[in-house]
Amino acid sequence: MHFIVFEGLDGAGKSTLIEGLKRELTTLGESVVLTREPGGTELGEKIRELLLTKDGESPVARAELLLYEAARAQHCDKVIEPALAKKHWVICDRFSASSIAFQAGGRGLDRKTIDQLNSFATQDLAPALWVLLDLTTAEAMRRMQGRDLDRFESENKDFHERVRQRYLDLAKENQQSWLVLDASRKPSELMLELMAKLKERKLWPA
Ligand code: TYD
Repeated sequence: MHFIVFEGLDGAGKSTLIEGLKRELTTLGESVVLTREPGGTELGEKIRELLLTKDGESPVARAELLLYEAARAQHCDKVIEPALAKKHWVICDRFSASSIAFQAGGRGLDRKTIDQLNSFATQDLAPALWVLLDLTTAEAMRRMQGRDLDRFESENKDFHERVRQRYLDLAKENQQSWLVLDASRKPSELMLELMAKLKERKLWPA
């Protein structure tokens, strides 16, 4: 299955690496669908706006989680599953692990409940590989300076620290399906390492 997910703190450089990977795969004649969470569908993009805006009433943590899961269910059925069925590559900017890192790690919601909701929303769909772009919170926050920050990016350092730690725990829990990259390195080096690791794990087109 050609499904790869990129995760990490905001500011880790997911977009650059995702674009690079798409370019490499397209050059090899592969067809690639780039997508993201929350979002990826018309409904999901509307939910994304509700989740990221700093205007008006903020959702409580449980409502926030359920909105992510609603967007995810739509995304799986309407975009990811159909693309995988056509043998396309699907490269996704965040997926169910973000709910564990941000809503369990960051917000303190119960992990078991999140696992159950993730399983319900995705129908147990999981990528062939999770790529974690790991960065210290200090560096992530430095990179976000001067940006127009959304509701999550505006959270304090402790929040981002808990998110980072939860990601590292997840990657440790399941080393076969996670690849941790040091996101403080140059984008060109990260790209080379990513391709080497994909080859090592037999995930690169033969
Ligand atoms: P992202 O697209 O990475 O933001 P940006 O476009 O600003 O880089 O993700 C949006 C935010 O949503 C991000 O701060 C993480 C958060 N998020 C969760 O809290 N839970 C989730 O399940 C997902 C998918 C994202």
